[in-house]
Amino acid sequence: MMISRTSSTGGPSHHVPVMLREVLDILALRGGNVYVDGTFGGGGHSKAILDSCQCNLLAIDRDIKSIEIGKELKEKFPKRIKFYNQSFSEIPDILDQNLNKKVDGVLLDLGISSLQLDNPKRGFSFQKDGPLDMRMANKGITASDVVNKLKEENLAIVIRDFGEERHSKIVAKKICEHRKNKKIESTYQLSEIIEKSIGWSYRKQKGKYIHPSTRTFQAIRILINQELEEIISVLPNIARYINTEGRVVIITFHSIEDRIVKNIFDDLTGQNMGVSRYYPERSNIDEKLFMYPNKKFLKPTNSEILENPRSRSAKLRCIQRTKAIFRENLDIYSTNKYDKILSELR
Ligand SMILES: C[S@@+](CC[C@H](N)C(=O)[O-])C[C@H]1O[C@@H](n2cnc3c(N)ncnc32)[C@H](O)[C@@H]1O
Repeated sequence: MMISRTSSTGGPSHHVPVMLREVLDILALRGGNVYVDGTFGGGGHSKAILDSCQCNLLAIDRDIKSIEIGKELKEKFPKRIKFYNQSFSEIPDILDQNLNKKVDGVLLDLGISSLQLDNPKRGFSFQKDGPLDMRMANKGITASDVVNKLKEENLAIVIRDFGEERHSKIVAKKICEHRKNKKIESTYQLSEIIEKSIGWSYRKQKGKYIHPSTRTFQAIRILINQELEEIISVLPNIARYINTEGRVVIITFHSIEDRIVKNIFDDLTGQNMGVSRYYPERSNIDEKLFMYPNKKFLKPTNSEILENPRSRSAKLRCIQRTKAIFRENLDIYSTNKYDKILSELR
């Protein structure tokens, strides 16, 4: 996540990548190495990576607008950066087809960028009126499809599971009542329905009120962009593409995606062995493909949160590739298992 600001003179926005110092340190960047930024966004992390040493970078974003923004960086580093307008779940294909060697680090800064959030036409924000879109890649079902077409019971499940909204049933009911008379077409319309159904009174979180639409908007966005599937499909296979000592760094912004990242990282580092509720014991600790270079996840500093309030919920987690050989048939690669992890959240 990053922040964009428009200067008081009406000048162009600029973007502040979250936990930049921490990302650069933890990636342990070295000249000659190859890195992947799977969520290019406004390019803040990518630019800093390229500035910090003579490395090469594959920059991925499924939003074509981000790739357009990348032109400037391409001009500055014509030989060292390559762009791919794809999803990060396609990292294996991108690397197989274009690189044919392993990389030394992968960064995923999850969620949406300020460029997306702050553009009313994209429909991500309940604070700006716009069409109910919310698609990062500009294809597939829209937020309008979800609120106008999904059965009430399924709408409630989505809002509960992906938004962790306690009042999901009421919100779904009110949306369905409303749409009988009038199609819900704008972010303000949806936000007003949500506000009227659940109000503000119990929305307290750490002493602060959060907007009643926050959770429902998050849920719809996660659903239509298949955000959890993206994480779940890429991580179990990533080891094959990372050199020994290479790192995978992920910044999450809400508890659902953070739990998934933690669970998969715990599996890949062997932390879940014998204690996993999802799988039987595995016997050989030498098979672990990754280790934790840091015991804990990192959080933004207080001064970063003050400067960039959107960073406040960020958590940075990192794993480091060991020498263990990647073997496709290990239990941990069973997608079935991750379906079970996900089903616990449903
Ligand atoms: C939080 S922003 C990244 C900001 C970036 N690190 C920077 O410094 O400017 C997330 C970006 O990742 C993209 N994105 C999210 N999920 C994606 C996925 N599964 N595949 C590819 N891009 C994705 C979004 O379109 C968005 O541009």
